[in-house]
Amino acid sequence: MAGPNNESPIMKFFVDTADTAEIKSLAESGLLDGVTTNPSLIAKSGRNILEVIREICAIVDGPVSAEVAATDYEQMMREAAVLKKLAPNVCVKLPLTPDGLRACKTLSGEGVQTNVTLCFSAAQALIAAKAGATFISPFVGRLDDIGQDGMELIAEIVDIYSNYAALETQVLVASIRHPIHVTAAAKIGADVATLPPNVLRMLYHHPLTDKGLAGFLKDWQATGQSIV
Ligand code: E4P
Repeated sequence: MAGPNNESPIMKFFVDTADTAEIKSLAESGLLDGVTTNPSLIAKSGRNILEVIREICAIVDGPVSAEVAATDYEQMMREAAVLKKLAPNVCVKLPLTPDGLRACKTLSGEGVQTNVTLCFSAAQALIAAKAGATFISPFVGRLDDIGQDGMELIAEIVDIYSNYAALETQVLVASIRHPIHVTAAAKIGADVATLPPNVLRMLYHHPLTDKGLAGFLKDWQATGQSIV
């Protein structure tokens, strides 16, 4: 759960994309707390990982997750050394494997921010916290896809982490598919949600807001007034 590093008084919003135009546009809201990427999102951007991560870090002040592509500890550490030099807000993203957690332990010990990804069980979340992860990323959508309730896993992890007051690992809800995932994560008290850009935009909307605003504007026009 949130430790002293968690400055936000409410669940933080990260955006899950490597599309810098989208990130720039969403950052204008002032409500974006960070960015997550993964190898698939980098591939989708069609750009070089180092160039795109550097650019994202210049747009957003908060943590920007950049994932290693190696599967063995030594190569992960070599890749992490390159990634962490890109900007001070780079958060090195590591897979939840024995080598990934070994790299997490080393990097956390050096004060580097880490995001342990591809978490699908509470036992995995427990061991990632033990390895000193800054963020643990349980994938709710992918669990829902195979008929398991992803949000139950979030509740279980938040519950376990809350037993340890000094624990600083933050629960970052990933693989979010719709706004109900976001509000459910907030009800449980998760620290962070990483949202695809379209889901982040959906949070603003309700048909009654649009209808209500159209009505107010029509009535206002009829008054012939202007405020400025
Ligand atoms: C999280 O960090 C991952 O990049 C992401 O949330 C995965 O989501 P997906 O299951 O939609 O690919």
